[in-house]
Amino acid sequence: MRKRIFSGAQPTGELHIGNYLGALKNWVALQNEYDCIYCIVNLHGITLPQDPLTYRRKTLDLAKIYLAAGVDPAHSTVFIQSDVPEHAELTWVLSCISRMGELERMTQFKDKMQKGGGNRERAGVGLFTYPVLMAADILLYQTDLVPIGQDQKQHLELTRDLAERFNRDFGEAFVIPEAFIPPVGAKIQSLADPAKKMSKSDENAAGSIFLLDKADTITKKIKRAVTDSGTDISFDPARPAITNLLTIYHLLSGMPKDECVEHFRGKGYGDFKGELAEVVIEFLRPFQERVEQYADDDLGAILKSGAEKARGIAGETLAAVYRKTGIK
Ligand code: TYM
Repeated sequence: MRKRIFSGAQPTGELHIGNYLGALKNWVALQNEYDCIYCIVNLHGITLPQDPLTYRRKTLDLAKIYLAAGVDPAHSTVFIQSDVPEHAELTWVLSCISRMGELERMTQFKDKMQKGGGNRERAGVGLFTYPVLMAADILLYQTDLVPIGQDQKQHLELTRDLAERFNRDFGEAFVIPEAFIPPVGAKIQSLADPAKKMSKSDENAAGSIFLLDKADTITKKIKRAVTDSGTDISFDPARPAITNLLTIYHLLSGMPKDECVEHFRGKGYGDFKGELAEVVIEFLRPFQERVEQYADDDLGAILKSGAEKARGIAGETLAAVYRKTGIK
């Protein structure tokens, strides 16, 4: 039997090239080797306020992004989290074996609370229990491997802890999943501030290249991207801005790292940025054309059959969990 992959993204903002290079690219690359399940995690999205008038639209648009990136519904299961109620049900059971202390240590919770004003008294409980829902997503499907960016590593470790705790206390119910974090591209930084990761929720759109950005916007963002002192175009941990830009060039062009350095030897930032913009634009052009091709009707059938398949697997896991805990 093929090993299983599960991963997902939130429909909370436009996906950017960090999401693509850290996660989606690997979802696609791994789909022939693994039995893959890719979820649009709309229940996670509401841990921060969303506009009810556009949220459903954004959820469906994210499905189009998955498909345009190369997720093939003939090979992989694609579904919307809220179509499989077992996610919320298992979250409850897992929250009963989760500890306040371990959730309080989650850096994403601390960061998001900080962004919301830093007032613990007013921080959302959903934001706090977010990683438990993520654990339920993964564990429901007896997942072996979870392709994610660096920022989700801590959540994956928590997932493993919860699975081990449940298996120990109630009997074997879950496979212990492993993270798949790519060696390069797991943490693409903001173009406006190389000390910060590229983030959907960043108020400063200049820091992110969104997958649906038009050519002139991309050119502008790259031209304005922050650079470090010095002139070399090279990978150098002491110069995070140029390293980040060159990493994007390397991953999107497919040119090996040493060839990239060779290619830009003696050239200045201006030339480099021009070529980088071209590579990004040429990479995104066919992607954006594919996004336009999907009609909502085609999407409906894919998501419906995805949810049916997902429910079959999730239902079995939840039934085992309810048996082992004496609930049923
Ligand atoms: P989300 O929606 O924030 O991001 C989707 C994926 O993109 C990765 N990512 C990045 N990779 C490289 N550089 C960046 N700057 C960057 N920013 C984001 C994320 O690591 C992620 O893999 N909690 C998850 C969604 C989720 C999930 C799951 C993932 C819910 N349940 C179960 C895997 C398995 C999240 O918020 O991703």
